[in-house]
Amino acid sequence: MSERIQPVKGTHDILPEEQGVWGRVRAAASSILPLYGYREIATPMFERAELFERSVGVATDIVEKEMYTFADSKGRRIALRPEGTAGVVRACVHHGRLRAHPLDKLYYLGPMFRRERPQKGRFRQFHQLGVEAIGEPSATLDVEVIALLARLLTACGVDRVELQINSVGCSECRPAYRDALVSALSARRAELCGDCRRRLTTNPLRLLDCKVPTCGEITASAPELVDHLCDGCRDHLATVEQGLTDLGVAYRLNPRLVRGLDYYTRTAFEAIAEGLGAQAAVAAGGRYDGLVEELGGTPTPAIGFAIGLERLVTLMEDGGEDPPLPLFVAALGDAAHRHALKLVEAVRGAGVAVEMDHSDRSLKAQLKRADRLKARRAVILGEEELAAGEATVRDLLAHSQARYPLADLAARLIEEERP
Ligand code: HAM
Repeated sequence: MSERIQPVKGTHDILPEEQGVWGRVRAAASSILPLYGYREIATPMFERAELFERSVGVATDIVEKEMYTFADSKGRRIALRPEGTAGVVRACVHHGRLRAHPLDKLYYLGPMFRRERPQKGRFRQFHQLGVEAIGEPSATLDVEVIALLARLLTACGVDRVELQINSVGCSECRPAYRDALVSALSARRAELCGDCRRRLTTNPLRLLDCKVPTCGEITASAPELVDHLCDGCRDHLATVEQGLTDLGVAYRLNPRLVRGLDYYTRTAFEAIAEGLGAQAAVAAGGRYDGLVEELGGTPTPAIGFAIGLERLVTLMEDGGEDPPLPLFVAALGDAAHRHALKLVEAVRGAGVAVEMDHSDRSLKAQLKRADRLKARRAVILGEEELAAGEATVRDLLAHSQARYPLADLAARLIEEERP
């Protein structure tokens, strides 16, 4: 036997037995998102690397350390997408959508790629359900978007989640805060971890998010962004908080919440779930009022979020077992097999699920398989049945059986299985 090929570290298969719960996520998305006016968009899984450098930011972990990049045959740098927002904004600008759709509400579901150290809840290929609402600066849109996230989580039966929100300010107030933070932390530079010493010059806000305990202690007394917001950002945050309270959406203001992507402005939020361990954010997002312009469009405010689906499904109750199969056909001998094949094709053509046995195993073995498939009825085509021009139709739950003439077997089975 040849050596087995291992899957790539940090990737995982989603087996048929697990598809039920993923299907429930897709069903929740496709029933709830249209209620809020979102339409599906699909963008490529790879893009010019520059797209993510300009949007997510060159000084972020995602771009610095985690992107899968390669050169195409013309030497252009390509990256597997580490997230969905940049591609959606690129697509909107490219297709000139924003003129025709003053508020473009879009959603996507698909795989993302980050070369992170794999651990529980952290993969190198993972899936996101993301929404982006592009074209509106009002804080009431932020409220609507956060309420939508809460509704999606509830619809998936995930309720032990804390919604944390913060404002990360804007280009007007953030630079002064950044300076205040850097001067407060510079005095203790030597005690910071290596990453944070570097971040102090490249991306100081990320220090607030460092998981190294000593860095946490040092930044605990650092100045907070909420105290440095400009009037516009402060009012915006107050309106978001009021709106969430009005809607009864529970949240906690976390003044230390910062995001690992550079494009955020004003509102930032995360849904932190109980039971996920260290990787506790099941969803995250925020406003990105400068991104459309950064990617070559006319200045257009926007907000969105993405749910990490691997994390979401681990929080969901297993949706139970596969549905039972209405019919199973057991056939004995070549003539019976030919008959069976015609029968199952006719039955499927009428929209009824049916499975047949293609082996020449004993009836007992074939019926065992019917049992495993949780078939409700078995159609038995044996030599004796065929000679009599009939089939035995056995009710596997009631343990009763009857003979049906072959002439109208398909029609009767279809009739009986129709809802
Ligand atoms: P993010 O916080 O980088 O934001 O990712 C969003 C969610 O994706 C996380 O909260 C987490 O549930 C999941 N996730 C991230 N990385 C991994 C991983 N390595 N393994 C498993 N799950 C992961 C964004 O990606 C933004 N694009 C969200 C957004 C949309 N902001 C505005 N619009």
